[in-house]
Amino acid sequence: MIPNQWYAITRSQDVKKKPLGIKRLDKLLVLYRDTQGKLICMDDKCPHKGVKLSLGEQHGDLIACPYHGFQYDQQGDCVHMPVLGKNGDVPKGMCVKTYKVTEAYGLVWFWYGEEMADEDYPEVPMFKQFKEYDGYYSYYGWDAPINYTRYVESVCEIYHIPFVHKGSAINIWDPKGGRVDDFECKVDGTLITSDFILRPDDERTAAETLVARKPWTRGWRFGIDVQMPNLIQIRSEVFDVIFIPTPIDEDTCWVCVCYQEPKRDLLLPLIKPLPIPFWRPVRPWYMCRIERFVQQAKDMAVIAHQEPKVSSPKANRLIPIDKVNAHYIRFREKLIREAKEQQAHNKIKEQPHFEAPTLEQIIGIEEVN
Ligand code: FES
Ligand SMILES: [Fe+2]
Repeated sequence: MIPNQWYAITRSQDVKKKPLGIKRLDKLLVLYRDTQGKLICMDDKCPHKGVKLSLGEQHGDLIACPYHGFQYDQQGDCVHMPVLGKNGDVPKGMCVKTYKVTEAYGLVWFWYGEEMADEDYPEVPMFKQFKEYDGYYSYYGWDAPINYTRYVESVCEIYHIPFVHKGSAINIWDPKGGRVDDFECKVDGTLITSDFILRPDDERTAAETLVARKPWTRGWRFGIDVQMPNLIQIRSEVFDVIFIPTPIDEDTCWVCVCYQEPKRDLLLPLIKPLPIPFWRPVRPWYMCRIERFVQQAKDMAVIAHQEPKVSSPKANRLIPIDKVNAHYIRFREKLIREAKEQQAHNKIKEQPHFEAPTLEQIIGIEEVN
């Protein structure tokens, strides 16, 4: 996990009236909205006896633990303990750690790193194409049994399609196809972009394959981009799609996929005349489900068994066409290193936080003696 980055942790639509408990970035988190609709995020663990706050209830701006009803405010401070009565004196330091979150592009983003002044947080990462897109789109998220680095890599090397996705609708080439031509890769800041033609492997030139009439004999232009820390975009002549695999822990990740409306209908003559209401928003919704229940199953059957589980510069032997992967792995190492240096520098300034009272302090010194 790369510190000092924004990570998408769930869809905005998933945090409604009830507290939501999720695990992301190796942390158990609870999310809820206060009475103004503002998103609050804190550790999903009551400091009293470690129960999950997400199992509790919300009372206005406060979240109440389901075990003994202690109530915490938006800053994570306990403001009421029913056992002490209405005006009871709440002991100092009974507090839950809160986290910086923000909402953008229909997602909840979590700042994984050092806290800073509000104006110093960088912008949430997102592809320019999506920022400018004004059609329908749909998000869908699920947990995948794989380290997120391997997920990022697999989306970047689309030339696995003829093998992993053999026999499924997105594979229009047999395993002898899927050759990549005219590959170009560029880097701009922490954005890696690539463009290429994926085509059947035969005697034709790449340009000739692009104008073939039958889809399965055609070559297709694709673009695959990575925006650090973990966003991948596939651009194609048919659709644009974004994948965001956010770490849950070392072994699993939450995959959020965002399909936009197709740019052209390959099944046009069959489907277009049907008078289906809300057809435009339905298509991205439907594509997200296909991605999860058809494509993902095939990907996981193979890549969940990769070794080592986490990618790193020396983990594998790459080939020139894996340039996007190579840039991604290098960037990841670099950003982790820079964040560690920053943390070491800031440690000197860190304030000691409140320690819980010892059992002896609770019992009272005279009684212990
Ligand atoms: S465990 Fe939460 S109030 Fe006791
Ligand atoms: Fe795949």
